[in-house]
Amino acid sequence: MSLIAVGACYVDTILTTPHYPGEDDKLRATSISRRRGGNCPNSLEVLQQLVAETPANLQFPLNLVAILPARSSVASQQIRTAFEPHVSLDHCLYREEFEEPASSYIMKSQASGSRTIVNYNELPEMTLEEFGRIVDGLKGPAAWFHFEGRIPDVTLSCIRHLRNRFPDTKVSVEVEKPGREGLQELVEEADVVFYSKTWAQHNGYNSANECVQKQLSLTRKASLLCCTWGQDGAAALETSTRNLVHSPAYCPAGFQVVDTIGAGDTFIAGMLYGLICKKKGWDLSQKLSMANHLAGTKVAQEGFAGLGRVLREYCTT
Ligand code: FRU
Repeated sequence: MSLIAVGACYVDTILTTPHYPGEDDKLRATSISRRRGGNCPNSLEVLQQLVAETPANLQFPLNLVAILPARSSVASQQIRTAFEPHVSLDHCLYREEFEEPASSYIMKSQASGSRTIVNYNELPEMTLEEFGRIVDGLKGPAAWFHFEGRIPDVTLSCIRHLRNRFPDTKVSVEVEKPGREGLQELVEEADVVFYSKTWAQHNGYNSANECVQKQLSLTRKASLLCCTWGQDGAAALETSTRNLVHSPAYCPAGFQVVDTIGAGDTFIAGMLYGLICKKKGWDLSQKLSMANHLAGTKVAQEGFAGLGRVLREYCTT
């Protein structure tokens, strides 16, 4: 089975600051870094490392569907170089009249450990017709489609199109942004749902367990609901058996919050890996605990490099 992740690709400019500035303040950052971001690309960056740690007969192809600026633009070339050949960008859509990628400006506060993201994206979004052409061109074994829950009305049509064309396709959806209209409709169509803490809190839930338990009655097709809750860990609920599992957050020895940007994306990578690659090999609590291990390790380090080691360590303990 191959994995096709559909979502936005950003270039992140990250300023580390001692604390958040007040309005109209001046503040000196302690460091600046620039890296490729976006929820699906971040998850794929982690997944490619996990797949590399997996025996060849169990490896699965990874694909990104994202809107990128002109094929010849510096950003598109850098993104391709960073991903290929491990992640295929053959299904990406290039907006030839644009040179600038979608950009995020992120302030990471050392005092609170949190990050605040301001983003700008002028690239025209993917249409259902474009997605339809990608799906119609797919050959080969069944695919797992993972959607970042953005532009929910288009995403909903895309999922329906996919289900008509390939009824056996697995669909997972990330429900992250609080207040974004139409996410609940996406939940109704998905096989697997990943809820963020901010979305859950915005919807009145006080814990990851409460979120997945209360969402159960609002899902029609889902077999698994997952919710992350920062330092309070994560929950997963198997809908057919009502098996609810909670796993505490993983804190490596001497844990310190270094970089929370993409922690949720890392968790999703871990769960998708377990669901696709260790479908029978790991039970639900093992899948959840491995995803938490990955996310906890990520928070304690800068960026995503070297996270494949978590799988190695996890499999030997
Ligand atoms: C982190 C992230 C960043 C990106 C932003 C987009 O989850 O994907 O890499 O800039 O969120 O919302």
